[in-house]
Parts: sequence; structure tokens; C-alpha cells
Amino acid sequence: MILSIESSCDDSSLALTSIQECKLLFHQKISQEAEHSLHGGVVPELASRLHAQKLPLILKNLKTFLHGNFSKIKAIAITTEPGLSVTLIEGLMMAKALALSLKIPLISINHLKGHIYSLFINQQQCIFPLSVLLVSGGHTMILEASENEVRIIAQSKDDSFGESFDKASKMLGLGYPGGPIIQSLAQECQEDLYTLPIPLQHSKELAFSFSGLKNAFRLEIERQGSNLNPNALAKAFQQSACAHIVQKCKLYFQTKKENQQAIPHFAIVGGASANLYLREKIQDLCATYNSNLLLAPLEFCSDNAAMIGRVGVEEYKKQNFSDLFSLEVSPRNTQFKS
Ligand code: KG4
Ligand code: ZN
Repeated sequence: MILSIESSCDDSSLALTSIQECKLLFHQKISQEAEHSLHGGVVPELASRLHAQKLPLILKNLKTFLHGNFSKIKAIAITTEPGLSVTLIEGLMMAKALALSLKIPLISINHLKGHIYSLFINQQQCIFPLSVLLVSGGHTMILEASENEVRIIAQSKDDSFGESFDKASKMLGLGYPGGPIIQSLAQECQEDLYTLPIPLQHSKELAFSFSGLKNAFRLEIERQGSNLNPNALAKAFQQSACAHIVQKCKLYFQTKKENQQAIPHFAIVGGASANLYLREKIQDLCATYNSNLLLAPLEFCSDNAAMIGRVGVEEYKKQNFSDLFSLEVSPRNTQFKS
């Protein structure tokens, strides 16, 4: 089995995945949302300290699960990129200590690739080629993935989709993460009181942008003052943010169609793929273009070590190991190695 570790942002998580059947044997995650919520977003220094506390607690549970016998673990898969440097390092140090003491190899995992493989947890077969909409707190991308390669087709010029929800929630004086908060405010609202602009609506560019929408949201709060209806504004925000994503995905589908290239499978992954309104709209788009929509179970949308372990199995089969003494974190690397 593969032991995987995830600590790229604000979730401390460990998992065990069987190499033969890709079964998730153990999985635990301790989220730091409550601690960061007090600050309206992730505080890297605090996140790092919390990982240093929580990862060993999960390791202790894992040891109990294994009755103290680690001998069946064949490699350690560790997220090394992209993410926060001070939190990635916490996971990597634990991975190195374990690899050294258990005398097993280390496998370096790209977190974004992990999100793609969240689709295949507990499944032996992966589905490729696959077009992917990745929406998380750090990234908004359209990707084309095959077994050996992940290509970036489009990405955000500024904020990410999830981050824009976090900032919107903060501007309303509400907590973190903002995605579920804005979504539930929007769900409670029947009226359409406000209209916010849809980013890059008149541009043919295949790219995303959320900073203008964020600014329009702030201006509307200022304009409305004490008359503000936060539910209606959250609804308008979610509608515009999702309409932007859907318009750009449609442009992608259309361009592929014009080039006679089919998209048999399309997936939405990442923490913000939990957004039900977005799921519904992308489902409609996929139906229009005859594409099969793949979604990860809700519990594996946000950061977790199970998805890192699932990539780990593939890398283990290729014997794609890293040197324990030179492996480093690459916090800003979003490129995909093949
Ligand atoms: O993938 P993830 O757990 O962490 C990163 O890799 O960034 O994604 C977390 C992000 C946060 O920005 C959070 O607000 C957003 O996903 N998110 C949502 C929803 N649930 C989580 N955004 C919109 N709607 C949601 N329902
Ligand atoms: Zn993530």
C-alpha cells in the first residue's frame, strides 16, 4: 500500500491506498477552517503550526489502524507543489522522516494532478483522455489530461473562482471558506435584486478573471449601505461567477467542435466543484455537447490525501521515485511534469 500525505494549504490529511485494487484503506483529514475563519482567510504561519500539531495526531491513528505494523507500506506519496511553502514543508518533512525510517521510496505529487485523480479514488481504472475544469481556492483552469500528460488550456489571469467566493464572504463580514457560505445565502434567496457583470463576456479569449467581478461586488455593498440584501447580492455574485465559467467552457467545447475534436468525458474537480449551481449549469452544457460529466464524491472535492494516494499508485507503478535528500517543495509550480 501507499501512504499519502497532503498539507498544501489548510487541510492536514493522511491516507492509505492499496496498490493492486486502488482501494482507500484509511483516510483522515483535519481541516483548519475554524481557526482561519477568525482571520477571514488562510494565515500561512498559523496553517504551518497547525499542520505540525495535526499531522502527528493522524499518524498516531494510522499506527493504531495498522496495529503498529508499517511493513506493508511500499512508498510515501507527498504533495510538493503547488501550495503554501510553509505548509508543504511540514508534510514533506514528515514524509522524509517516514521514508528514511521505513526504508521506502518517496513519490513527489502535484496537488492539481491529485484533484484530477479525486475522480478515480477506489477505482482501478482511470478515464482518459479527459477534459477537466479545475476550480479551487488557488486555481481556475481548463486542463486536458491523458495518462502521461496534463496540458493547461486556460487559466485565470488573477483571482481564482473559489478565492473570489472567499473574498466576497469576507466583504460581507462572514466567515471562511466563503464558497459554502455564499452558496447557502444564494439558495435562500428567491428574488433577483442585483445584477453584477459577467467577466470577459465579450472577449473570445479562453481565460478566466474574477477581479472585476469582485470589485463590482464591493461597489454594490458600498452603494447599498444599510439597505443591502446580502442574500440577493450573494445570489447575483454566484450567478455571474458561474455564468463566466460556463461561457468559457462553452467556448472551449465550441472550439473543439469546430476542429472536429470530440470531448467524450468532461470533469469538474477541486474544492469549488462542490458548488451545486455550477454543477447544474455544467451538466446542461455537457448534455448539449454530448459529453459525459464526471464528478468526484463531495467528500473528495476539497483537499485530501486520498487523491494524492491515488496518483501515488500510478507513479509507484512507473517507479517514479524522488531522491529523499534533494526533494524540495515547489510552492508556485503549476506546470505539470509528464
Ligand atoms: O481544493 P480546495 O479544498 O483547496 C485548494 O486547493 O485551494 O478548494 C477550496 C476552495 C475555497 O476557496 C472554497 O471557498 C471553495 O473551494 N469552495 C466553494 C464551495 N465549496 C468550497 N466555492 C464555491 N462554492 C462552493 N460550494
Ligand atoms: Zn486543492
